[in-house]
Amino acid sequence: GFFFGIHAGAILSIFPLFLGIALQAYFDDTPKALKEEVNKLALALVGLGFGSIIFLTGQQGFCGWAGTKLTVRVRDLLFRSILKQEPGWFDFEDNATGILVSRLSIDCLSFRSVLGDRYSVLLMGVSAAAVGLGISFYLEWRLALVAAAVTPFTLGASYLNLIINIGPRLDNKAYDKASTIASGAISNIRTVATFSSQEEIVKSFDQALSDPRKQSVKRSQILGFALGLSQGAMYCAYTLTLWVGASLMKQRITGFGEVYKIFLILVLSSFSVGQLAGLSPDTTMAATAIPAVFDIVNRKPLIGNFRDKGKKIERSKPLDIELKMVTFAYPSRPQVIVLRDFCLKVKGGSMVALVGGSGSGKSTVIWLVQRFYDPYQGKVMMGGIDLKELNLKWLRKQVALVGQEPALFAGSIRENIAFGNPNATWGEIEEAAKEAYIHKFISGLPQGYETQVGESGVQLSGGQKQRIAIARAILKKSKVLLLDEASSALDLESEKHIQDALRRVSQSATTIIVAHRLSTIREANTIAVVKDGAVVEYGSHDKLLTSHVDGVYASLVRAEREANAFS
Ligand SMILES: Nc1ncnc2c1ncn2[C@@H]1O[C@H](COP(=O)(O)OP(=O)(O)OP(=O)(O)O)[C@@H](O)[C@H]1O
Ligand SMILES: [Mg+2]
Repeated sequence: GFFFGIHAGAILSIFPLFLGIALQAYFDDTPKALKEEVNKLALALVGLGFGSIIFLTGQQGFCGWAGTKLTVRVRDLLFRSILKQEPGWFDFEDNATGILVSRLSIDCLSFRSVLGDRYSVLLMGVSAAAVGLGISFYLEWRLALVAAAVTPFTLGASYLNLIINIGPRLDNKAYDKASTIASGAISNIRTVATFSSQEEIVKSFDQALSDPRKQSVKRSQILGFALGLSQGAMYCAYTLTLWVGASLMKQRITGFGEVYKIFLILVLSSFSVGQLAGLSPDTTMAATAIPAVFDIVNRKPLIGNFRDKGKKIERSKPLDIELKMVTFAYPSRPQVIVLRDFCLKVKGGSMVALVGGSGSGKSTVIWLVQRFYDPYQGKVMMGGIDLKELNLKWLRKQVALVGQEPALFAGSIRENIAFGNPNATWGEIEEAAKEAYIHKFISGLPQGYETQVGESGVQLSGGQKQRIAIARAILKKSKVLLLDEASSALDLESEKHIQDALRRVSQSATTIIVAHRLSTIREANTIAVVKDGAVVEYGSHDKLLTSHVDGVYASLVRAEREANAFS
């Protein structure tokens, strides 16, 4: 691409030379000589025309190809890097889904414009200038010196002219904010529709785009001023060249023809390079897009940076889990302490239920046990070893999670279950589904296990999704099971199914379950009541009812009994 670009640039400078010769011929030659001369020149011009077709096609084609390859590579790197980051990183507003998606789709394209096409246009400009000046030096070195001095102005001016004609683009930040709004609205379309808030969302979308528009008006004004200056400088440059040429002619050092040719080369080649520069993709976004992409690609995740480092516990016994005086706040909101001196011990193979009000920190405990976040103070331990010393990949393999809002991926039900263990056989998948009490439902579907569930599994009920997530956890056969019970009510039938499924998975694992329903809580060996980020009551069901008669747990039990009595 660069090779073709250099040749294309050279041709741009030879063109005006021939035109100059032709003009001179009109002035100087006799009619007969003129005809011959013009024939020759016409042929040469046609040749040059073909040459420029080949070289420009080559330049655009190859550089486009290289640019595309580069874009694909950068995208791959960026996506890998995004997936490597610790979950806390995604809590920050700057790393919202919409922004990351636009980094992947739009910002990566900027690499193409800079490294692919722009360099080759730059090379073309340099080569046009070099060949043009070379010819000029050959024709008349004094005038060529003047032309050399002014070339930067003429090239710069025509390039600037083009940028302004294309028009300044909106700032990237505007797109970032707008795409966050858009992706949030689209993935929550049901909520948007329920509240009929389409109008408001469009308004805030427009707002996000219009703030920087004002900025861009200001930028246009500055650019306009720069354009005026540069155009002025360009014409001064032309005038200077002509004036020096004229005085050289006056001293009979050079002829009209030489001056004319050099002048044509100067004007036309810078003009054409400017035109071609306009063909290269817009580069105004690259200035912000490329650093943003590099920031992510170069970012070392705070957790799990060294994938092969750390201990692995090689023993088949279930693992103890312990949180020791853990104090924690989310990195994106460091001033709000979520857990304060939190202590909890779960014996290997036993089941602990976390109970407590909304926002008390139950799910946070679940995240800490998987080392999605590191505590500020205190330790989270598994099998007696601090999680920070354990190999992260190994750790995540030991743990299966059924989340509060079970996540399904776009794909078939079978793929969604097998996510827990990609090497699972058909039989194992079906077995897991049976244990999770979802097999019957799946086989009843027209496409069975190959039924596609859309993004986040919108075509399934909450209970079905949760049971698929349980099947996934069963298939993973992990030593530690973390369950965050959905707080939404389920009908008795589904509830019973889910409880049976849970009982089975938890048999051979150390289990922490965030439970809202008494029936689930009863399954646990021990109950820990969480309030304001600390364990306030701890013990078995009976112990809590007798020792904390006025406690949180006792009142929860009373409330549920009363509710049941009514229904
Ligand atoms: N990613 C996050 N970034 C910042 N703060 C968070 C984040 N997730 C949760 N919080 C805050 O931490 C506190 C505890 O949240 P947590 O999800 O642990 O509550 P919970 O006990 O699971 O509640 P629920 O029963 O409603 O699920 C809340 O005040 C919440 O606002
Ligand atoms: Mg929760």
